[in-house]
Amino acid sequence: MNSHLAFDFLLLLLLTSTLSLPFSCSVYDGISEGSSLSVENPDDILTSPNGIFSAGFYPVGDNAYSFAIWFNKPSCAAYCTLVWMANRDQPVNGKQSKLSLLKTGNLVLKDAGRFTVWSTNTDSISLVQLKLHDTGNLVLRNEQGVNLWESFDFPTDTLLPLQPITRNVQLISSRSQTNHSSGFYRVFFDDDNLVRLLYDGPEVSSVYWFDPWLISWEAGRSTYNNSRTAVLDALGNFSSSDDLTFMAADYGARIQRRLKVDVDGNFRLYSLEEVTGTWIVSWQAISAPCTVHGVCGPNSVCGYDPSIGRKCSCFPGFKMKNQTDWLYGCEPEFSVPNADDEIGFLHVTNVEFYGYDYGFFPDYTLEMCEKLCISISNYCKGFQYRNLNGHWNCYPKTLFLNGRRSPDFGGDIYLKLSKASLLSFNNSSNRELGFNCSQGGYIQLDRTYPRNEENGSVKFMLWFACALGGVEIIGIFLVWCFLFRNSKDSGAIARAYLPAPSGFKRFTYAALKKATRNFSEEIGRGAGGIVYKGILLDGRVAAIKRLDEANQGEAEFLAEVSIIGKVNHMNLIELWGYCAERRHRILVYEYMDHGSLAQNLLSSSLDWTKRFEIALGTAKGLAYLHEECLEWVLHCDVKPQNILLDYSFQPKVSDFGLSKILNRSDLKNTSFSRIRGTRGYMAPEWVFNQPVTSKVDVYSYGVVVLEMLTGKKSAIGIEAMDDETETDHTRLVTWVREKKKEATKEKWVDEIIDSSFGNEYDLGKMENLVELALQCVETNQDARPSMKQVVERLLRLETDR
Ligand SMILES: *[C@@H]1O[C@H](CO)[C@@H](O)[C@H](O)[C@H]1NC(C)=O
Ligand SMILES: *[C@@H]1O[C@H](CO)[C@@H](O)[C@H](O)[C@H]1NC(C)=O
Ligand SMILES: *[C@@H]1O[C@H](CO)[C@@H](O)[C@H](O)[C@H]1NC(C)=O
Ligand SMILES: *[C@@H]1O[C@H](CO)[C@@H](O)[C@H](O)[C@H]1NC(C)=O
Ligand SMILES: *[C@@H]1O[C@H](CO)[C@@H](O)[C@H](O)[C@H]1NC(C)=O
Ligand SMILES: *[C@@H]1O[C@H](CO)[C@@H](O)[C@H](O)[C@H]1NC(C)=O
Ligand SMILES: *[C@@H]1O[C@H](CO)[C@@H](O)[C@H](O)[C@H]1NC(C)=O
Repeated sequence: MNSHLAFDFLLLLLLTSTLSLPFSCSVYDGISEGSSLSVENPDDILTSPNGIFSAGFYPVGDNAYSFAIWFNKPSCAAYCTLVWMANRDQPVNGKQSKLSLLKTGNLVLKDAGRFTVWSTNTDSISLVQLKLHDTGNLVLRNEQGVNLWESFDFPTDTLLPLQPITRNVQLISSRSQTNHSSGFYRVFFDDDNLVRLLYDGPEVSSVYWFDPWLISWEAGRSTYNNSRTAVLDALGNFSSSDDLTFMAADYGARIQRRLKVDVDGNFRLYSLEEVTGTWIVSWQAISAPCTVHGVCGPNSVCGYDPSIGRKCSCFPGFKMKNQTDWLYGCEPEFSVPNADDEIGFLHVTNVEFYGYDYGFFPDYTLEMCEKLCISISNYCKGFQYRNLNGHWNCYPKTLFLNGRRSPDFGGDIYLKLSKASLLSFNNSSNRELGFNCSQGGYIQLDRTYPRNEENGSVKFMLWFACALGGVEIIGIFLVWCFLFRNSKDSGAIARAYLPAPSGFKRFTYAALKKATRNFSEEIGRGAGGIVYKGILLDGRVAAIKRLDEANQGEAEFLAEVSIIGKVNHMNLIELWGYCAERRHRILVYEYMDHGSLAQNLLSSSLDWTKRFEIALGTAKGLAYLHEECLEWVLHCDVKPQNILLDYSFQPKVSDFGLSKILNRSDLKNTSFSRIRGTRGYMAPEWVFNQPVTSKVDVYSYGVVVLEMLTGKKSAIGIEAMDDETETDHTRLVTWVREKKKEATKEKWVDEIIDSSFGNEYDLGKMENLVELALQCVETNQDARPSMKQVVERLLRLETDR
């Protein structure tokens, strides 16, 4: 690295003292009539007076160039943050292509000196100038100061602050991360005056944001303002004529921002972190990535794993139609059934498909729905069967598109196929639809882009030498500083894109110190840190956790925190942000009014209904972590202290993912080597050094439920035992089991449950719940149900009346 730097340094001396002289040594911000920019001259670049934006020919493929505008900071050595393109769909040749401002006032882009591929179609009798402004707007202006044309009126996929999106303007995503031609996702004003996101694919198109089943006012939008204009102001406040408004998480002046419709179909606001040279997401339209349409194609299901992103999988018995492109979805491997009597249905759980319903048939039994599907024959490829508020509804499907895994949805899919093909499926094939969790473990976010250091430095120095002209000494010093800083950063965090949900934010230590009044109000202690109550600048009340062990590098900490920040479920506590400054590692969570379950267990404020809801909600939260292929976020420390209650006593599981942050080295291969968890709730696997799976959480969950029902905190009221290995919970478990065995059938539940319930509970449900909890605490982990099965059984209990 040092010799490399020294070399650069020498080269720079050479450049500044010799090479710089013959060059025309100035940085242009514009051109005037009769001049042009050539693809062959790397110096033919316009730079805005403030140095933030540049415009020039940008390589988009082999010998293919587009005229583009990009950000100069973070430096553009290998990969530019593009904001605009003139000819994204028709790149020009690397030889003799030119952008010329003709004497007629027309700005034209000619391919290989011959074909016009793009022009502004302007004309003027007075003198015209093309200038790149400080805002990033490329403007063609005549002598009278009238703008004949401006790039702000023709965005590609990005909006800059103060650049409006209007009636005639839409943003269109790129085709892919590397192919900048027009893709399939659009942001536009629809005919009802609403800003929407549209998937406009080769075969189908549909709107997916805001949620298409909502009426505009349900989504907080108004259809009445016909002016159709929306803009992000300089401080990070976006407002639209349809009443859509949002603010950047880092609201305030001075920050560089851009709004972009990304290739994954999300619409994001990015802010530049000056210190690290990193673009961070400061708002995004969609938090559940699989709700974007057009991701997977027909007959396939989209699943999301925060550590690897979205993934498509085929229905069982289907195969990918085009091995290279999910757009085409999947096709059946079996023959499509014809005669009625041969038809059967394959049950696929926890998936949701949007649209293409033959109709809506409320209060249908499964048999009625099957009959219906068979009777409408070719129109019905199967149906979605869903429980909504205790009613089972039938939605026959003419096409299975926009599918996603959705453990929360409360609905299943029944695929129509012949009985013969149905028999050939094993139940296990159902699992193929899930993720391939065996990849497991930890996958570093793909956040660094390859750099071509050599070229980058040389290119940069050329530019810099020119820019500074004669002031060489200062120039050398600055360049040297820049190179040094740059090469230091480039490995770990250069040009990182850390996606995060809206509101997810980096806090400064000073801000958190102020919010917590110098960490004065302690509200809890737990895994690896103390939690304080704090009030954020925007008035939100937060639970702020200071981690003790700060032995983790900032980039690693960031990578993991941002993944936890993306986990989004109503029964999981929401992470609002973090602080990583010097040795401080702090997490900022939403604050829960009613504290933890532990605090409430003893206060008898929880009646039977509330306790049942808490058992169900907690199970849903854990099931989400397990089901969504988040096994690496295994909770591993489920206990009443980690189950928080909101204002309506809905539970939210907290501290998930923390074991990972606190003890990285142990967890590299998801094979945990050190005992984790809290005495009293730990599964036997920990003690016996067996492989640890999500079933450890099931065990702890079972203990918590028993505790909630019996009102006995661990071993309270039960005689102590001498056996060293016999922990508190085994005593509780044994006690319940024995009561169950010895008492007569009706009475055993009465004997174990919390006396504070009185008679205010449903005996049948209670019995079921206790039995379920006992199953969860089976010593053999294979005998325990999965968290998902627990949820299903509780849901059934809930609707049985
Ligand atoms: C980009 O995608 C378009 C549309 O699929 C294709 O025609 C074009 O060749 C691609 N360009 C590159 C450079 O791959
Ligand atoms: C953001 O803009 C909207 C509309 O112009 C305005 O009503 C709102 O007060 C602004 N918010 C802030 C914090 O400036
Ligand atoms: C329509 O929206 C524009 C831009 O947000 C605003 O200036 C105007 O006052 C709105 N008109 C009405 C009638 O609300
Ligand atoms: C799959 O899709 C690619 C890209 O769209 C296309 O070039 C190829 O021919 C397709 N293959 C098949 C087997 O359809
Ligand atoms: C189903 O399982 C059996 C044995 O478990 C196996 O022999 C058979 O090949 C499987 N069938 C399919 C279609 O996977
Ligand atoms: C498949 O699963 C269903 C319930 O999900 C069960 O009733 C059936 O017996 C299972 N079949 C086999 C062969 O395991
Ligand atoms: C799952 O991933 C593992 C490891 O990457 C691989 O060996 C295995 O073939 C994959 N299985 C499926 C069904 O994709």
